[in-house]
Amino acid sequence: MTMMQNFTGQKGGAHGGLAVSLPAWAYSNDELAELEYERVILPSWQFVCHISQVRNPGDYATLDMKKDSILVIRGKDGTLRAFMNVCRHRAAKLLDGTGNCKARITCPYHGWSYDLGGELKAIPAQQTFPGVEKDKLGLQPVEMEMLHGLVFTRVVPGGPSLRESFGDMANLLTPYRLDEMVPAGAPWIDSWNCNWKIAVDNNLENYHVPVGHPGYHRMLDSDLAGTINQHGVAHSISVLKEKPSSNWAERMYQKMAPEVLTELDPETRRTWLFYSMAPNIGIDIYPDSFDIFQILPKDGTSCIMRYPVFVRPGKDATDNGRARRVVQYLNQRINRQVGAEDRELCERVQLGMSSHGYVPGPLSNYEHAVVDFHNRIRAACPVAAEATAPAAGTVRQRNEALLTERRTAA
Ligand code: FES
Ligand SMILES: [Fe+2]
Repeated sequence: MTMMQNFTGQKGGAHGGLAVSLPAWAYSNDELAELEYERVILPSWQFVCHISQVRNPGDYATLDMKKDSILVIRGKDGTLRAFMNVCRHRAAKLLDGTGNCKARITCPYHGWSYDLGGELKAIPAQQTFPGVEKDKLGLQPVEMEMLHGLVFTRVVPGGPSLRESFGDMANLLTPYRLDEMVPAGAPWIDSWNCNWKIAVDNNLENYHVPVGHPGYHRMLDSDLAGTINQHGVAHSISVLKEKPSSNWAERMYQKMAPEVLTELDPETRRTWLFYSMAPNIGIDIYPDSFDIFQILPKDGTSCIMRYPVFVRPGKDATDNGRARRVVQYLNQRINRQVGAEDRELCERVQLGMSSHGYVPGPLSNYEHAVVDFHNRIRAACPVAAEATAPAAGTVRQRNEALLTERRTAA
């Protein structure tokens, strides 16, 4: 008997019927990451930008994912629309980052140009395209929806709307007046050396907070369980502790946030709200700012972290906004540390996943959102539930076979 068989043999008895994580191979397989991108990420709502970035005609923002880029742009008529960010001629990517493109979107390759509503308006040397039907070559539209000033798009249409997905949970966002915030800068983009699901798993539970994030533990009373709805939108609430933290930045934040952000009600000034939205988005909401934690698959063992931060602007009566900038600075200092801790923990898990003989352990009741996420993965990619990896090059095929089996059985 090999060592692996021996370990696998222990599975079951030790877990008392509790749910277990996805198998280790599913956290390091390039082919599965590809499938998950297509079957889990593309049919889901993805954050593109904040309303403040696309207020005027011609304002645009883009989102780059594994294989796709999306463009959100405000038309001359004042309507916000979303398109695939790709030229209908020979596929050049049209726009980067954020900005304003006045009256036209002009392709940087051969100069095809589209109006702000996505219609193709001009083709250089059009006579060399005899019979071309410009009206059929507009940019390809994408579903778009806004919630509390946050603009999301969905490449593969269908499924619940964003509003439906959040349900009543959207009401908790209201006191934070997210639509009044402005970007702190361009989104921070980084690559983590872990499968995207490891970073999502980590984002879906607070069980690791007392040990993994000593700073949070010093300054916040965290709800370790949180709440999740049937659409995979979850949230947990953390409240600033009365007892001052032993760390100066945390202590200053505890003191200043409730004093400074006077346009919010006293309870909101003390409360941090952590949202997650299946399959890959975290929304961390603070009285002074918020950030989005968007985890995008790259390959089997690495992911892209897109992390835009938005801050509450405004002048305070006595100091012209200096105090709120201090609060925001303290917040970013605290959360940079937490981000570094999460990254270290996730990359540490990735190392363990390939450890000889590792089989997934049981999940706590505090990890119920992780169980929900894994069930979503299993539903979209049933191959991810297989105990061992299919042979190289056959993951997609095996997944198709399992989907067919499931359809036949239904
Ligand atoms: S690819 Fe855009 S004009 Fe040719
Ligand atoms: Fe964490």
